[in-house]
Amino acid sequence: METSFKRRMLNLANRLIRPLHIEIVPSMRADRPVDEYIPFHKTAAEAKKAGLTIPQYIEAVYAGAGTIQETIDRLAASGAICAGQKNICEVGPGSGRYLEHVLRVCQPEHYEIYETAADWRDYLAATYPVVAQPCDGRTLSATPDASMDLVHAHRVYNTIPLTLTLGYLFETMRITRPGGMVVLDIFSGESLDEPTARKWVESGALFPKFLDKQYVINLFASQGFRLVDSFFIGLQHGRTEYLVFENAPEEAAPASRPALVGEPAFG
Ligand SMILES: C[S@@+](CC[C@H](N)C(=O)[O-])C[C@H]1O[C@@H](n2cnc3c(N)ncnc32)[C@H](O)[C@@H]1O
Repeated sequence: METSFKRRMLNLANRLIRPLHIEIVPSMRADRPVDEYIPFHKTAAEAKKAGLTIPQYIEAVYAGAGTIQETIDRLAASGAICAGQKNICEVGPGSGRYLEHVLRVCQPEHYEIYETAADWRDYLAATYPVVAQPCDGRTLSATPDASMDLVHAHRVYNTIPLTLTLGYLFETMRITRPGGMVVLDIFSGESLDEPTARKWVESGALFPKFLDKQYVINLFASQGFRLVDSFFIGLQHGRTEYLVFENAPEEAAPASRPALVGEPAFG
């Protein structure tokens, strides 16, 4: 769908107010810096005005109807999320649009978040049964080693600087218990085919970050994580590639011989 819901609403509103010689222009620029996540109060007010919950509104404006449920269904099918996962950590939950689904499916005893946007973090902690951990923007330092059944992040490692991503990936591996699951998504080469790359260029967006899929697979394999699923989910301007890992230490690459970039890590 080329024209987003937001743009259609904007066009409609502008047609209605044209006789007044004024025009509404979007304020959520694609070239916003990533540490400037969409403003909480403005988003909440717009969602209310549209008669939607915040997650519904975010999905309508930024993603596309059904994409969150599609993601959740696929994660459930691959065994990444399931009832009985007692301890869950999410990095960068933002509006909580995935959080509420994962809470429903997994019914965890403990769900913790690391979020740098203070207004969203406070809103999530007040709205859902989650613990907002102190977030330094780099580490998961409040979480003990090998303690989490699931560690997940959505649209975080394709938007933050590489060194922060790498730090979070090492931290994710540290806190995932043996047998635990990891879910993340990236802008891989496979999710940036030529038409999609052109769409991103036309969008003017400055926040997307590239990560090599095989590199990430090998990094996880070097610490005993095996890839159990990968799939694409459509976005406003393109698509993102999800990777699902299981912490399976018996399959760890020998310490003396780290996995090499480009070397298949499974199958
Ligand atoms: C593109 S948004 C995605 C939000 C949410 N996961 C979603 O899919 O709707 C990126 C999120 O990561 C958060 N974030 C950015 N840098 C971060 C960091 N260094 N540590 C933790 N969260 C961060 C932002 O505040 C925002 O909530």
